[in-house]
Amino acid sequence: MPKITYVSADQIEQTFDVSVGATVMRGALSNDVDGIVGQCGGYAQCASCHVYVAPDDLDKLEPMQPDENDMLDFAACSRESNSRLSCQLKVTEALDGLTVRLPERQG
Ligand code: FES
Repeated sequence: MPKITYVSADQIEQTFDVSVGATVMRGALSNDVDGIVGQCGGYAQCASCHVYVAPDDLDKLEPMQPDENDMLDFAACSRESNSRLSCQLKVTEALDGLTVRLPERQG
């Protein structure tokens, strides 16, 4: 099972096995990771699952779709070049070792 590491805004790292086919957002919620809300349930309609992807991992990801791109402009914390909505990051074996940093707040 792929391992995903979540780093809180105050630098606490937590690594979990997340099932292939789940999303990085669901992996956080099912492991009680603070800092990801997922208010819309994973439909790219709330931006409360915003994460910053480790720069070295960006090339593992599928390209962003237009709805994700639009919604990221509404994230509570600043959008950066490595910002993604974690509900749009489907876990595959290729994402094993992915690290995402959580913003200071989601709303
Ligand atoms: Fe709402 Fe990701 S959970 S945009």
